[in-house]
Amino acid sequence: MMIRYKILNLLKEKTPGYVSGEEMAKMFAVSRTAVWKNIHALQKEGYLIAGSPRRGYQLVGIPDLLLPDELAGKLQTKVVASSPEKIHYYRQIDSTNSALKKLAESGAPEGTIVIAEEQTRGRGRLGRFWSSPFARGIYLSILLKPPLLPQDAPLFTLLAAVAVVKSIQLNLPHIAVGIKWPNDLLINNRKVCGILTELKAEADLLHYLIIGIGLNVNLQDDDFPAVLKNTATSLYLENKRQSVSRQKLTAALLQEMDSFYLDYLNNGPEMVISAWKKFNITLGKKVTVKTIQGSFTGRAVALERDGALVVEDAQGGRKRFQAGEVTLEKF
Ligand code: BTN
Repeated sequence: MMIRYKILNLLKEKTPGYVSGEEMAKMFAVSRTAVWKNIHALQKEGYLIAGSPRRGYQLVGIPDLLLPDELAGKLQTKVVASSPEKIHYYRQIDSTNSALKKLAESGAPEGTIVIAEEQTRGRGRLGRFWSSPFARGIYLSILLKPPLLPQDAPLFTLLAAVAVVKSIQLNLPHIAVGIKWPNDLLINNRKVCGILTELKAEADLLHYLIIGIGLNVNLQDDDFPAVLKNTATSLYLENKRQSVSRQKLTAALLQEMDSFYLDYLNNGPEMVISAWKKFNITLGKKVTVKTIQGSFTGRAVALERDGALVVEDAQGGRKRFQAGEVTLEKF
């Protein structure tokens, strides 16, 4: 373990007490200057460490940043972020999906994640922009390599949606989150989370999937661009303006992704489908589905085993959609 994290763990162990620089230098067999430099590095990461010439150092606050060390300590996953090396953390990046794609191309293992406090070019579906202000949301991408076919990919987007809902429920049980097909999470009819799945495949072989999750956690009114003010929301805004721990939520999300994924590989898609159905707010509703072929309006009547949505029009004609943009209509 890096010396910096040894120091951090020791300070955590001793909180609210102090540990002297000399003690740490001895314990870790380094100079006192090295101790001081590492303390400084931790402070730069956001840890609040007070120094007193007589008593030494004291940890007074841990930031709610998604620091790998904080996350790794909270996880018991088998695939997703299952070791500290699989967690790639950035203060700022263009897009976590783009960064993970580069890692995937250079052979990163399954379960590798990229997480950032801020994205300068966060990408949404259909070439849209995903607003990603510093330390307010969760911007996370996960690399999976399921031994399946490209046509199985849409189900993983549903899987991610279900995992996010579960992690929100665990942390904020009083908030009702619904899934709009395929993978938008809504609270009170406003979008709180979006998922962008990208993949590399041949006709009959899936190389890898990148599941990008953008969750509006502690965004406040001013954090939303004007055009989104009426259609987007955050957990903070829906939680009576109380902040939500991004660390806890991210850990829960990774944990849920891991267990749904393993369940899928071992037992097939039933669990994902039944969880999705339980949380969905699309089936039974009148919807309009927009695709590149055009728009189709009708009642959403079924979700098929591969994640496709079946819509029935007034004449009883049925259409199956594997992708598309759904608007929930009023009857
Ligand atoms: C949508 O349009 O609903 C999907 C939004 C997906 C945003 C996330 S944020 C983390 C990851 N990196 C990106 O550039 N996009 C996804």
